[in-house]
Amino acid sequence: MDEDRIISPELEDVQEERLENSLRPKTLEEYIGQDKVKENMKVYIEAAKKRGEPLDHILLYGPPGLGKTTLANIISNEMNSNIKITSGPAIEKPGDLAALLTNLSEHDVLFIDEIHRLNKSVEEILYPALEDYSLDIMIGKGPSARSIRLDLPKFTLIGATTRAGALATPLRDRFGIIHHLELYETKDLTTIVKRSAKILEIQIDDDSATEIARRSRGTPRIANRLLKRVRDYALVLGDGNINLKITKTALRKLEIDEIGLDDVDRKILETMIIKYQGRPVGIETIATTIGEEAETVEDVYEPYLIQIGFIARTARGRVAMPSAYSHIGVPYEANIRN
Ligand SMILES: Nc1ncnc2c1ncn2[C@@H]1O[C@H](COP(=O)(O)OP(=O)(O)OP(=O)(O)O)[C@@H](O)[C@H]1O
Ligand SMILES: [Mg+2]
Repeated sequence: MDEDRIISPELEDVQEERLENSLRPKTLEEYIGQDKVKENMKVYIEAAKKRGEPLDHILLYGPPGLGKTTLANIISNEMNSNIKITSGPAIEKPGDLAALLTNLSEHDVLFIDEIHRLNKSVEEILYPALEDYSLDIMIGKGPSARSIRLDLPKFTLIGATTRAGALATPLRDRFGIIHHLELYETKDLTTIVKRSAKILEIQIDDDSATEIARRSRGTPRIANRLLKRVRDYALVLGDGNINLKITKTALRKLEIDEIGLDDVDRKILETMIIKYQGRPVGIETIATTIGEEAETVEDVYEPYLIQIGFIARTARGRVAMPSAYSHIGVPYEANIRN
Protein backbone atom coordinates (compact mmCIF):
# COMPACT_ATOMS: atom_id res chain seq x y z
CA MET A 1 0.00 0.00 0.00
CA ASP A 2 1.10 3.55 -0.70
CA GLU A 3 3.36 4.61 2.18
CA ASP A 4 2.55 8.27 1.74
CA ARG A 5 -1.17 7.95 1.62
CA ILE A 6 -2.20 10.51 4.17
CA ILE A 7 -5.60 9.04 4.73
CA SER A 8 -4.42 5.49 5.12
CA PRO A 9 -6.13 4.28 8.28
CA GLU A 10 -3.09 2.21 9.15
CA LEU A 11 -0.41 3.31 11.58
CA GLU A 12 2.43 5.13 9.80
CA ASP A 13 5.53 5.07 11.97
CA VAL A 14 7.00 5.21 15.47
CA GLN A 15 6.39 8.93 15.66
CA GLU A 16 2.72 8.50 14.95
CA GLU A 17 2.55 5.70 17.49
CA ARG A 18 3.93 8.05 20.11
CA LEU A 19 1.37 10.67 19.18
CA GLU A 20 -1.41 8.10 19.42
CA ASN A 21 -0.35 6.97 22.84
CA SER A 22 -0.53 10.54 24.08
CA LEU A 23 -4.04 10.90 22.67
CA ARG A 24 -5.47 7.61 23.89
CA PRO A 25 -8.44 7.95 26.19
CA LYS A 26 -7.92 5.98 29.40
CA THR A 27 -11.50 5.40 30.54
CA LEU A 28 -14.79 4.40 28.92
CA GLU A 29 -16.10 7.82 29.88
CA GLU A 30 -13.44 9.50 27.74
CA TYR A 31 -13.87 7.10 24.83
CA ILE A 32 -15.97 8.98 22.30
CA GLY A 33 -18.75 7.42 20.20
CA GLN A 34 -19.39 3.66 19.78
CA ASP A 35 -22.20 4.05 22.28
CA LYS A 36 -23.60 0.55 21.91
CA VAL A 37 -20.22 -1.05 22.56
CA LYS A 38 -19.58 1.25 25.50
CA GLU A 39 -22.95 0.60 27.13
CA ASN A 40 -22.55 -3.14 26.87
CA MET A 41 -18.98 -3.12 28.11
CA LYS A 42 -19.96 -0.99 31.08
CA VAL A 43 -22.47 -3.64 32.14
CA TYR A 44 -20.11 -6.58 31.59
CA ILE A 45 -17.31 -4.87 33.48
CA GLU A 46 -19.51 -4.00 36.42
CA ALA A 47 -20.97 -7.49 36.58
CA ALA A 48 -17.56 -9.18 36.38
CA LYS A 49 -16.26 -6.93 39.14
CA LYS A 50 -19.26 -7.69 41.36
CA ARG A 51 -18.76 -11.42 40.88
CA GLY A 52 -15.03 -11.08 41.41
CA GLU A 53 -14.48 -12.91 38.15
CA PRO A 54 -12.49 -12.09 35.03
CA LEU A 55 -14.33 -10.71 32.04
CA ASP A 56 -15.39 -13.08 29.32
CA HIS A 57 -13.06 -13.24 26.33
CA ILE A 58 -13.70 -10.36 23.95
CA LEU A 59 -13.34 -10.09 20.19
CA LEU A 60 -13.17 -6.59 18.68
CA TYR A 61 -13.39 -6.28 14.95
CA GLY A 62 -13.62 -3.47 12.45
CA PRO A 63 -11.49 -1.42 10.05
CA PRO A 64 -8.07 -0.13 11.17
CA GLY A 65 -7.78 3.02 13.25
CA LEU A 66 -11.20 2.87 14.91
CA GLY A 67 -9.94 2.31 18.44
CA LYS A 68 -9.61 -1.44 19.05
CA THR A 69 -6.24 -1.16 20.79
CA THR A 70 -7.49 1.86 22.70
CA LEU A 71 -10.57 -0.01 23.86
CA ALA A 72 -8.55 -3.05 24.96
CA ASN A 73 -6.40 -0.79 27.14
CA ILE A 74 -9.46 0.91 28.56
CA ILE A 75 -11.09 -2.41 29.43
CA SER A 76 -8.06 -3.61 31.37
CA ASN A 77 -7.85 -0.22 33.04
CA GLU A 78 -11.51 -0.32 34.07
CA MET A 79 -11.04 -3.85 35.40
CA ASN A 80 -8.00 -2.64 37.38
CA SER A 81 -6.00 -5.39 35.75
CA ASN A 82 -2.73 -5.58 33.87
CA ILE A 83 -2.58 -5.87 30.12
CA LYS A 84 -0.04 -7.81 28.07
CA ILE A 85 0.04 -6.82 24.43
CA THR A 86 1.08 -9.00 21.54
CA SER A 87 -0.04 -9.84 18.03
CA GLY A 88 -0.90 -12.86 15.92
CA PRO A 89 2.24 -12.76 13.77
CA ALA A 90 4.47 -12.21 16.84
CA ILE A 91 3.47 -15.54 18.34
CA GLU A 92 5.35 -17.92 16.11
CA LYS A 93 5.40 -21.19 18.02
CA PRO A 94 3.12 -22.89 20.55
CA GLY A 95 5.95 -22.38 23.08
CA ASP A 96 5.73 -18.60 22.61
CA LEU A 97 2.08 -18.62 23.55
CA ALA A 98 2.68 -21.05 26.44
CA ALA A 99 5.30 -18.64 27.82
CA LEU A 100 2.89 -15.70 27.54
CA LEU A 101 0.05 -17.59 29.21
CA THR A 102 2.06 -18.99 32.11
CA ASN A 103 3.35 -15.50 32.88
CA LEU A 104 -0.10 -14.01 33.31
CA SER A 105 -1.56 -13.25 36.72
CA GLU A 106 -5.11 -13.81 37.86
CA HIS A 107 -7.57 -11.54 35.91
CA ASP A 108 -4.89 -10.16 33.59
CA VAL A 109 -5.85 -9.13 30.07
CA LEU A 110 -3.97 -10.69 27.19
CA PHE A 111 -4.41 -8.57 24.07
CA ILE A 112 -3.71 -10.25 20.74
CA ASP A 113 -3.82 -7.84 17.83
CA GLU A 114 -4.37 -9.23 14.31
CA ILE A 115 -5.60 -12.42 15.89
CA HIS A 116 -6.67 -13.78 12.49
CA ARG A 117 -2.97 -14.22 11.75
CA LEU A 118 -2.28 -16.77 14.49
CA ASN A 119 -0.98 -19.98 13.08
CA LYS A 120 -2.84 -23.26 13.46
CA SER A 121 -0.51 -24.93 15.95
CA VAL A 122 -0.65 -21.87 18.20
CA GLU A 123 -4.42 -21.66 17.90
CA GLU A 124 -4.79 -25.21 19.18
CA ILE A 125 -2.94 -24.36 22.40
CA LEU A 126 -5.26 -21.43 22.81
CA TYR A 127 -8.51 -23.44 22.81
CA PRO A 128 -8.15 -25.21 26.20
CA ALA A 129 -6.60 -22.06 27.62
CA LEU A 130 -9.71 -20.07 26.71
CA GLU A 131 -12.16 -22.76 27.63
CA ASP A 132 -10.94 -24.00 30.99
CA TYR A 133 -7.80 -22.04 31.71
CA SER A 134 -5.51 -24.96 31.14
CA LEU A 135 -2.52 -25.68 29.03
CA ASP A 136 -1.57 -29.08 27.60
CA ILE A 137 2.12 -29.41 27.02
CA MET A 138 4.15 -32.30 25.66
CA ILE A 139 7.13 -33.47 27.64
CA GLY A 140 9.82 -35.56 26.01
CA LYS A 141 9.91 -37.05 22.53
CA GLY A 142 9.10 -40.33 20.84
CA PRO A 143 7.46 -43.25 22.70
CA SER A 144 8.17 -41.80 26.13
CA ALA A 145 6.50 -38.49 25.29
CA ARG A 146 3.55 -37.61 27.45
CA SER A 147 1.30 -34.64 27.80
CA ILE A 148 0.79 -32.85 31.08
CA ARG A 149 -1.89 -30.37 31.94
CA LEU A 150 -1.05 -27.07 33.63
CA ASP A 151 -3.55 -24.78 35.29
CA LEU A 152 -3.49 -21.21 34.13
CA PRO A 153 -4.61 -18.08 35.97
CA LYS A 154 -8.11 -16.95 35.07
CA PHE A 155 -7.40 -14.37 32.40
CA THR A 156 -9.31 -12.45 29.73
CA LEU A 157 -8.29 -12.64 26.10
CA ILE A 158 -9.06 -9.60 23.98
CA GLY A 159 -8.58 -10.33 20.31
CA ALA A 160 -8.61 -7.63 17.66
CA THR A 161 -8.99 -8.11 13.94
CA THR A 162 -9.91 -6.19 10.85
CA ARG A 163 -11.43 -9.33 9.39
CA ALA A 164 -13.73 -11.38 11.58
CA GLY A 165 -14.45 -13.57 8.56
CA ALA A 166 -10.83 -14.74 8.50
CA LEU A 167 -11.10 -16.19 12.01
CA ALA A 168 -11.49 -19.97 12.36
CA THR A 169 -14.99 -20.77 13.62
CA PRO A 170 -13.79 -22.71 16.70
CA LEU A 171 -11.74 -19.69 17.70
CA ARG A 172 -14.54 -17.23 17.11
CA ASP A 173 -16.93 -19.40 19.11
CA ARG A 174 -14.74 -19.12 22.17
CA PHE A 175 -15.33 -15.40 22.56
CA GLY A 176 -18.22 -14.65 24.89
CA ILE A 177 -18.35 -11.01 23.81
CA ILE A 178 -18.04 -9.93 20.19
CA HIS A 179 -18.15 -6.28 19.22
CA HIS A 180 -18.06 -4.72 15.81
CA LEU A 181 -16.60 -1.22 15.84
CA GLU A 182 -18.25 1.02 13.29
CA LEU A 183 -16.99 4.01 11.37
CA TYR A 184 -17.59 7.20 13.41
CA GLU A 185 -20.10 9.89 12.66
CA THR A 186 -18.86 13.40 11.94
CA LYS A 187 -20.27 14.63 15.24
CA ASP A 188 -18.16 12.17 17.22
CA LEU A 189 -15.07 12.78 15.12
CA THR A 190 -15.48 16.51 15.72
CA THR A 191 -15.41 15.85 19.44
CA ILE A 192 -12.31 13.70 18.98
CA VAL A 193 -10.56 16.43 16.98
CA LYS A 194 -11.35 19.01 19.65
CA ARG A 195 -10.22 16.73 22.43
CA SER A 196 -6.93 16.00 20.65
CA ALA A 197 -6.38 19.69 19.90
CA LYS A 198 -6.77 20.46 23.56
CA ILE A 199 -4.26 17.80 24.59
CA LEU A 200 -1.79 18.98 21.94
CA GLU A 201 -2.44 22.63 22.85
CA ILE A 202 -3.61 23.54 19.35
CA GLN A 203 -6.05 26.44 18.87
CA ILE A 204 -8.84 25.38 16.53
CA ASP A 205 -12.31 26.82 15.90
CA ASP A 206 -15.49 24.73 15.66
CA ASP A 207 -15.88 25.00 11.89
CA SER A 208 -12.36 23.78 11.30
CA ALA A 209 -12.80 20.86 13.68
CA THR A 210 -15.96 19.86 11.83
CA GLU A 211 -14.24 20.24 8.47
CA ILE A 212 -11.40 17.93 9.52
CA ALA A 213 -13.88 15.46 11.00
CA ARG A 214 -15.95 15.43 7.81
CA ARG A 215 -12.93 14.49 5.75
CA SER A 216 -11.54 11.79 8.03
CA ARG A 217 -13.50 8.87 6.56
CA GLY A 218 -15.07 7.95 9.84
CA THR A 219 -11.71 7.13 11.39
CA PRO A 220 -10.21 8.70 14.55
CA ARG A 221 -6.65 7.85 13.51
CA ILE A 222 -7.09 9.83 10.29
CA ALA A 223 -8.77 12.71 12.15
CA ASN A 224 -5.80 13.00 14.50
CA ARG A 225 -3.36 12.82 11.64
CA LEU A 226 -5.14 15.50 9.62
CA LEU A 227 -5.28 17.73 12.68
CA LYS A 228 -1.52 17.47 12.99
CA ARG A 229 -0.90 18.22 9.32
CA VAL A 230 -3.30 21.15 9.30
CA ARG A 231 -1.53 22.53 12.34
CA ASP A 232 1.75 22.47 10.40
CA TYR A 233 0.12 24.54 7.65
CA ALA A 234 -1.27 26.92 10.24
CA LEU A 235 2.23 27.47 11.61
CA VAL A 236 3.71 28.15 8.21
CA LEU A 237 0.87 30.15 6.67
CA GLY A 238 -0.39 31.96 9.74
CA ASP A 239 0.12 32.36 13.45
CA GLY A 240 -0.40 28.69 14.31
CA ASN A 241 -4.10 29.00 15.05
CA ILE A 242 -6.32 26.85 12.89
CA ASN A 243 -9.16 28.55 11.01
CA LEU A 244 -11.40 27.32 8.22
CA LYS A 245 -9.45 29.00 5.45
CA ILE A 246 -6.19 27.40 6.51
CA THR A 247 -7.92 24.06 7.03
CA LYS A 248 -9.32 24.07 3.52
CA THR A 249 -6.02 25.15 1.98
CA ALA A 250 -4.13 22.46 3.86
CA LEU A 251 -6.56 19.71 2.92
CA ARG A 252 -6.47 20.79 -0.70
CA LYS A 253 -2.67 20.63 -0.67
CA LEU A 254 -2.90 17.18 0.90
CA GLU A 255 -5.15 16.22 -2.03
CA ILE A 256 -8.03 15.19 0.13
CA ASP A 257 -11.30 16.14 -1.45
CA GLU A 258 -14.48 17.59 0.05
CA ILE A 259 -15.64 14.26 1.41
CA GLY A 260 -12.28 12.85 2.42
CA LEU A 261 -11.51 10.79 -0.67
CA ASP A 262 -8.04 10.66 -2.13
CA ASP A 263 -6.46 9.51 -5.32
CA VAL A 264 -6.80 5.79 -4.62
CA ASP A 265 -10.51 6.09 -3.85
CA ARG A 266 -11.04 7.99 -7.07
CA LYS A 267 -9.12 5.33 -8.99
CA ILE A 268 -11.41 2.68 -7.53
CA LEU A 269 -14.50 4.60 -8.57
CA GLU A 270 -13.16 5.32 -12.04
CA THR A 271 -12.31 1.66 -12.53
CA MET A 272 -15.87 0.73 -11.75
CA ILE A 273 -17.62 3.51 -13.59
CA ILE A 274 -15.43 4.18 -16.58
CA LYS A 275 -13.32 1.11 -17.25
CA TYR A 276 -16.06 -1.40 -16.42
CA GLN A 277 -18.87 0.94 -17.44
CA GLY A 278 -20.92 0.43 -14.33
CA ARG A 279 -21.15 -3.33 -14.55
CA PRO A 280 -20.71 -5.32 -11.32
CA VAL A 281 -17.00 -5.91 -10.71
CA GLY A 282 -15.23 -8.35 -8.40
CA ILE A 283 -12.95 -7.04 -5.68
CA GLU A 284 -9.99 -8.91 -7.22
CA THR A 285 -10.52 -7.18 -10.53
CA ILE A 286 -10.72 -3.76 -8.92
CA ALA A 287 -7.58 -4.45 -6.90
CA THR A 288 -5.59 -5.69 -9.90
CA THR A 289 -6.62 -2.71 -12.00
CA ILE A 290 -5.43 -0.17 -9.45
CA GLY A 291 -2.39 -2.19 -8.37
CA GLU A 292 -3.39 -3.02 -4.80
CA GLU A 293 -3.98 -6.20 -2.82
CA ALA A 294 -7.60 -7.35 -2.80
CA GLU A 295 -7.41 -7.61 0.98
CA THR A 296 -6.29 -4.00 1.26
CA VAL A 297 -9.08 -2.76 -0.96
CA GLU A 298 -11.59 -4.73 1.06
CA ASP A 299 -10.36 -3.80 4.56
CA VAL A 300 -9.06 -0.30 4.05
CA TYR A 301 -10.73 1.51 1.15
CA GLU A 302 -14.05 -0.15 0.64
CA PRO A 303 -15.67 0.21 4.10
CA TYR A 304 -15.84 3.98 3.83
CA LEU A 305 -17.04 3.94 0.22
CA ILE A 306 -19.82 1.58 1.28
CA GLN A 307 -20.60 3.66 4.35
CA ILE A 308 -21.17 6.81 2.29
CA GLY A 309 -23.27 4.90 -0.21
CA PHE A 310 -20.87 5.12 -3.16
CA ILE A 311 -20.45 1.37 -3.55
CA ALA A 312 -22.79 -1.51 -2.92
CA ARG A 313 -22.01 -5.18 -2.64
CA THR A 314 -24.20 -7.41 -4.75
CA ALA A 315 -24.16 -11.13 -5.46
CA ARG A 316 -22.58 -10.37 -8.84
CA GLY A 317 -19.88 -8.04 -7.55
CA ARG A 318 -19.41 -4.45 -6.44
CA VAL A 319 -21.42 -1.74 -8.13
CA ALA A 320 -21.04 2.02 -8.06
CA MET A 321 -24.10 3.97 -6.91
CA PRO A 322 -25.49 7.20 -8.46
CA SER A 323 -23.77 9.43 -5.88
CA ALA A 324 -20.41 7.99 -6.90
CA TYR A 325 -21.12 8.91 -10.54
CA SER A 326 -21.91 12.48 -9.67
CA HIS A 327 -18.83 12.69 -7.47
CA ILE A 328 -16.50 11.81 -10.31
CA GLY A 329 -18.61 13.74 -12.81
CA VAL A 330 -20.06 11.02 -15.03
CA PRO A 331 -23.79 11.10 -15.83
CA TYR A 332 -25.48 8.07 -14.28
CA GLU A 333 -28.12 7.26 -16.92
CA ALA A 334 -25.59 7.30 -19.71
CA ASN A 335 -23.75 4.51 -18.05
CA ILE A 336 -26.30 2.04 -16.81
CA ARG A 337 -26.02 -1.49 -18.11
CA ASN A 338 -29.07 -3.63 -17.47
N1 LIG B 1 -13.38 6.48 20.65
C1 LIG B 1 -12.29 7.22 20.60
N2 LIG B 1 -12.20 8.39 21.24
C2 LIG B 1 -11.08 9.13 21.17
N3 LIG B 1 -9.97 8.78 20.47
C3 LIG B 1 -10.00 7.63 19.83
C4 LIG B 1 -11.14 6.78 19.85
N4 LIG B 1 -10.89 5.70 19.12
C5 LIG B 1 -9.64 5.83 18.65
N5 LIG B 1 -9.10 7.00 19.06
C6 LIG B 1 -7.77 7.48 18.70
O1 LIG B 1 -7.43 6.99 17.40
C7 LIG B 1 -6.13 6.45 17.37
C8 LIG B 1 -6.18 5.05 16.80
O2 LIG B 1 -6.83 4.16 17.67
P1 LIG B 1 -6.35 2.64 17.87
O3 LIG B 1 -4.88 2.55 17.78
O4 LIG B 1 -6.99 2.15 19.11
O5 LIG B 1 -7.00 1.96 16.62
P2 LIG B 1 -7.04 0.42 16.22
O6 LIG B 1 -8.47 0.08 15.93
O7 LIG B 1 -6.35 -0.40 17.23
O8 LIG B 1 -6.25 0.38 14.87
P3 LIG B 1 -5.45 -0.87 14.19
O9 LIG B 1 -6.49 -1.73 13.58
O10 LIG B 1 -4.58 -0.20 13.16
O11 LIG B 1 -4.66 -1.54 15.27
C9 LIG B 1 -5.61 6.54 18.80
O12 LIG B 1 -4.68 7.60 18.89
C10 LIG B 1 -6.78 6.88 19.67
O13 LIG B 1 -6.42 7.84 20.61
MG1 LIG C 1 -4.52 -1.46 17.06
